Amino acid sequence: MIVQSFCLAAMEYGLGTCIMGLTILWPEIIRDIVATPKGKYIATTIAVGYPEFDAPINNFERPREALENLVEWHLD
Ligand SMILES: Cc1cc2nc3c(=O)[nH]c(=O)nc-3n(C[C@H](O)[C@H](O)[C@H](O)COP(=O)(O)O)c2cc1C
Repeated sequence: MIVQSFCLAAMEYGLGTCIMGLTILWPEIIRDIVATPKGKYIATTIAVGYPEFDAPINNFERPREALENLVEWHLD
């Protein structure tokens, strides 16, 4: 929830984000880049930057599973 909220808040500032959970497999690389206090565990990383909306990498077709196939709503 924290990661999602961070990414949504970044959008409000015109920033794009990419959540990168795989980086925790190589925490020493992250520790080289970002000062991380000893004893603190890296839970995830989030790349933040200004999106290039016209870049091809940001414009390829990304099929999505239909929401109704993933979520069952119980509203009563
Ligand atoms: C918890 C979590 C961890 C993720 N870790 C990685 C990762 O390590 N590497 C990666 O390329 N994408 C990772 N992703 C996927 C990207 O953050 C992103 O969701 C994906 O590129 C889809 O982008 P799109 O919604 O613009 O298509 C992760 C997503 C989540 C939710």
